[in-house]
Amino acid sequence: MRAMRQAITSGAQHVRPVLDDALFARYVEIGLAVREAFCTPALRETLIARLKPHRRLIAGSVPAGIQQHGMLPERAATRSLAEISDSDLAQWLVDDGRLIYGEFTQQELDNYFEAIAPWLPPQGHFIDLGSGLGKVVLNAALALPGMRCTGIELLRYRHDMAQVRLAEMLVAGADEDPAAAASVAARVRLQQQDMFAADVGDATLVYVYSTCFAPLMDRLGEKLARELQPGALLTTVTFPIMHPAFELLKQFAPPSVAWTTVYLYRRRSVLEPVPPAAPNFLYEQDGAAWEYALRAAFSAYDEARRA
Ligand SMILES: C[S@@+](CC[C@H](N)C(=O)[O-])C[C@H]1O[C@@H](n2cnc3c(N)ncnc32)[C@H](O)[C@@H]1O
Repeated sequence: MRAMRQAITSGAQHVRPVLDDALFARYVEIGLAVREAFCTPALRETLIARLKPHRRLIAGSVPAGIQQHGMLPERAATRSLAEISDSDLAQWLVDDGRLIYGEFTQQELDNYFEAIAPWLPPQGHFIDLGSGLGKVVLNAALALPGMRCTGIELLRYRHDMAQVRLAEMLVAGADEDPAAAASVAARVRLQQQDMFAADVGDATLVYVYSTCFAPLMDRLGEKLARELQPGALLTTVTFPIMHPAFELLKQFAPPSVAWTTVYLYRRRSVLEPVPPAAPNFLYEQDGAAWEYALRAAFSAYDEARRA
């Protein structure tokens, strides 16, 4: 199945389009104000003061959306940072973080499916929440031939790219292994949807590449605890699920499966109704180190402009 797998690699470097449709109008409006404050020396102290209390919502020092690979349009801000409320800014940081794209390498995915094999039932339903360009769903369709495989992705362009990749994989498979290609075609479903609105009630295994979802982990845990059947499996990446409805089966420390920690949980059967989990702060950044790194990013930006 070399050609089929080949069709679904190398999504991590894809060219990001500009996010400018109505659904993201508010994200863009706030993002432009944040970017303006980053680029304008007179506004930087305010930017630091506004972001610092929310730094645990930022993956790294500079919000991803205002960096070069971000998806903001190239136009001037229509509002200033001063006009953005603190709660809107915090929500923007959550939204910005969760739009970051990343994939495991093919080797890491192979490691993953091999590592979880002892716990997997032969049949069922695999769901990738936040499925991006479809790499995990399509690999799952090859690695788990007894399972239906569904990907749920928020961004239209990523969903569209996943569909193109599925089509390319099926074309490659038609030559290479027609039976495998037909089986993949019958079992894979790609949906453009917010994962929090998706019904995962019949999932046997839910996978979440949650490295940039730290602020969402509690909300995810509660949704999954409410919807998953006892015995269902759950994988998160980098951050654990702290909800008491989930029993940790295995924690794969790096580099045994991947560059980061991979968790495997099972939905317990005894907790009904599920109590809400206490909020967890999974990702803390030291304030001084964060500020130092942000100031270094200001300098790097100024230097690049001068060059
Ligand atoms: C780190 S990428 C992982 C992509 C894919 N699962 C993989 O591992 O190759 C996370 C994906 O989650 C998507 N995402 C973020 N929030 C989402 C939401 N509320 N509903 C659905 N997808 C979401 C992002 O757009 C992004 O494509």
